[in-house]
Formats: sequence, structure tokens, C-alpha cells
Amino acid sequence: MYKGKARAHTNIALIKYWGKANKEFILPMNNSLSLTLDAFYTETTVTFSEDLTKDTFYLDAVLQDERGTKKVSQFLDLVRSLARKDLFATVESQNFVPTAAGLASSASGLAALAGACNAALNLNLSEQDLSRLARRGSGSACRSIYGGFVEWEKGHDDATSFAKVIPSNQWEDDLAMIFILINDQQKDVSSRDGMERTVATSVFYDGWLKTSPLDLQTAKEAIAEKDFEKLGVVTETNGLKMHGTTLGATPPFTYWSADSLKAMNRVREIRQLGIPCYFTMDAGPNVKVLCQKKDAAEILAQLETTFSKDQLTCAYSGPGLEYLETDVKA
Ligand code: DP6
Repeated sequence: MYKGKARAHTNIALIKYWGKANKEFILPMNNSLSLTLDAFYTETTVTFSEDLTKDTFYLDAVLQDERGTKKVSQFLDLVRSLARKDLFATVESQNFVPTAAGLASSASGLAALAGACNAALNLNLSEQDLSRLARRGSGSACRSIYGGFVEWEKGHDDATSFAKVIPSNQWEDDLAMIFILINDQQKDVSSRDGMERTVATSVFYDGWLKTSPLDLQTAKEAIAEKDFEKLGVVTETNGLKMHGTTLGATPPFTYWSADSLKAMNRVREIRQLGIPCYFTMDAGPNVKVLCQKKDAAEILAQLETTFSKDQLTCAYSGPGLEYLETDVKA
């Protein structure tokens, strides 16, 4: 029996990954840049054993069906071939997210699974190789191997596409990200399906590809200069651009709901009051607000006039992958 356990935190992209150049290896069309956060994380235990006859996956203690297990099982296939071990596994994952926020993250999930497999099978992977492995489970997961500001270099093949830390002199410790949790009844388009449709059909995708390298450069300059306004402006611009591409797809779609727009407008209003804050969104209706730690309490108070307290969570910069002790068997 081979057992390992790891914890990985989620990350939110300030410069988005949106589109694959290679689906099998999950190579992205453009570099992306994220902030790893402390508030949301996944802990995963993996047990490989000769006694098992198939892979099983428990998410928050609930046994997943075949469909829910597929992504995990495909990832385990990669690990099995890497380790040259033909063993099935039991995967137990727990997502630590506030209430039923619908924020289950494939980034923290697949990064934690990669770490747990590394520990269980003594693969001794370097962080770079772990990032490459996590990438194959879910693109954004390659960034969750590291804490703070992280860049995913798109590379040109499996060996050259991985994330790395962006030197920042710990500036991330001065920042915060407030999550505005918006529940709506809309049918989900997963990020995987959404980006595929966009690359294949969006008349706006070209504009995205042409301008994202400059956005990335601007964000990196802002981090080097500790220029919050510069980072905020490019974060908001890049996120809006990504969401713009979905409207140009066939069939068109959007992740925005009425309350997402309400949240975006509130952020703009708060900014008008002279408090710097900027929003970004991913493949869902929730709005994330990038701000400076010193302003977080005031921004939360402002947001509480529009949203209920349990819709608001304030996160700070979080750490990279951590290995945990597995429970000792009686
Ligand atoms: C909008 O990493 O979830 O959050 O590689 O298909 O698993 P797959 O997609 P995923 O996509 C994340 C897209 C995003 C932007 C980002 O995190 O960069």
C-alpha cells in the first residue's frame, strides 16, 4: 500500500489562461499570471493498493460516480505510467470553501492530487515537474504548486510548459482579494468547454491573443514596481477581455449574471470614492475584488450595503503545495 496526502490552495488569475494550443498535454495559448490565496484549499489523500480493482474518488466524503471519477482516473493513469506501477487507487479529497459557495476549484484539487501522488509513490518530483504534472490534470492547477504571484509559462511542449514564482519582495502580503459569491440558476459551461468553444469559434479570440502578452508584461512591471493601480487596471482589463471573447463565440455565451454586473458596478462606485479596487471573474458568476490589505475592511463594509455578509469572503496571499501526515491506521 502506498499512501500520501497533500494540501494545495486555489489561485485566481490576474492575467487569464483562456484557450489551449494542445488539448492532450494542456498547453495554453498564452502565458497567465495568478495570485495563490489562503482562504480556499483542497486536502487530498491517495492510497494505491494491490487490493483495489478500480479507482474510487470521494469528494467531501461523498463517493463520486463514474463521470465524477473520470478526470481523477485519467490523471492517475499519467501517474501510473510515470511511476511504472499498475495499481488502482482510492482518492479522498476535501474542499475547504466557505458554505455552499460553488467555488470548488479544479486548480487546488488537481494540484493537491499531484502532490499526494508524489508523496505516496515517492516520485521525488521537483516543483517544476510537479507543476508540469498538475498541468495535465487541469491547466490552472500548475500555478497552485507555488504561493504568492505565479506565472505559467506556456512553453512549446510538455517539458517546457510550467509555472514559476514571480519575484515580488513579498508584495503579495500587502494585497487582498474579496470574493463576492453569487449564486444563480444558470446552467454551467465549464471552463474547459468554454475555452474550447471560444478558441474554435470566437471572432474576438484573435484580439485576446494579440493583446494578452502586453497585459502580462504590464502586470509583471506592476509587481516589480509595487504599483497597485497599474496591476489593478490591467487585471480588470484582461478579465473583461476574456469575458468579451465568449460573446463572440458560436453559440455565444456568458458567465455573467445580473448580480455579477451589480457587483462590478459596486466595485467601480467604491473606486469613485477614492478606494482603489478592481474586479476579475472566471468561468462562473462570482466576482473577485483585488485590493490592498489596508483597504479591505472599508471595501467589505461598502460591499455589505449591497450583498449579505455570507456572500463575502476576504482572502490573502496563500502558500504553495504542502505535504501532510497521513492518518495512522489502527
Ligand atoms: C477562467 O484550468 O479550469 O479560470 O485546463 O481545461 O482544466 P482546464 O481549465 P481550467 O481553466 C481556468 C480558466 C480560468 C482562467 C485561469 O484560471 O487562468
